[in-house]
Amino acid sequence: MKFFLDTANVESIKYFADMGLVDGVTTNPSLVAKEGRNFEDVIREISEIVDGPISAEVLSTDVDGMVREALELSEIHENIVIKVPMTKDGIKATHILANKGVKVNMTLIFSPAQALLALKAGARFISPFIGRLDDISCSGMELVVAVRDILDNYDFECEIIVASIRHPLHVVEAARLGADIATIPPSVMEKLFNHPLTDVGLERFLKDWSNAFKK
Ligand code: E4P
Repeated sequence: MKFFLDTANVESIKYFADMGLVDGVTTNPSLVAKEGRNFEDVIREISEIVDGPISAEVLSTDVDGMVREALELSEIHENIVIKVPMTKDGIKATHILANKGVKVNMTLIFSPAQALLALKAGARFISPFIGRLDDISCSGMELVVAVRDILDNYDFECEIIVASIRHPLHVVEAARLGADIATIPPSVMEKLFNHPLTDVGLERFLKDWSNAFKK
């Protein structure tokens, strides 16, 4: 499973990219707004750090606006993937962009039916939002299972990005279900490393060594 970083924070991206853990990046308007920086500058900088798909989201909600913005964003770097929201206009824009060879990540997917529409329109990536479903007492992981089943039945050229990840178990479950990609916030990435027995174990090894060989 590929790891994307779900952030627009350049320092976090560099930090985890130096460990070889970042296959791509997803941003959204909320994440970019949090950084308080120029959108295009941020996307350009990220593209220089990570050699993989970088999702940049359109802000228009009408077809023409989405397509225009998508084409402008695509000019920034060859790895840019356009995030388009799951609406009727978004589906139409995805169809147009796919025919022009622009890769689309269809975002805000909350049902298998929406996933199917995105696949039919030609989305190259689809992003089921699992945390936001869990938040309203629906199972996000059941959506991932359904989308995986659909993709395995046909030969759409599309990868599942498990999005809206809230904790390490979401990442592990996504991997067990065969999701292609998990897009992980830096805070959750940090938590993936932790296990108290690792800390205790290392402390004991070092203590035993120093007790045995100290003068
Ligand atoms: C990524 O593509 C999504 O925009 C992101 O994972 C949404 O996460 P949230 O539900 O925590 O805002």
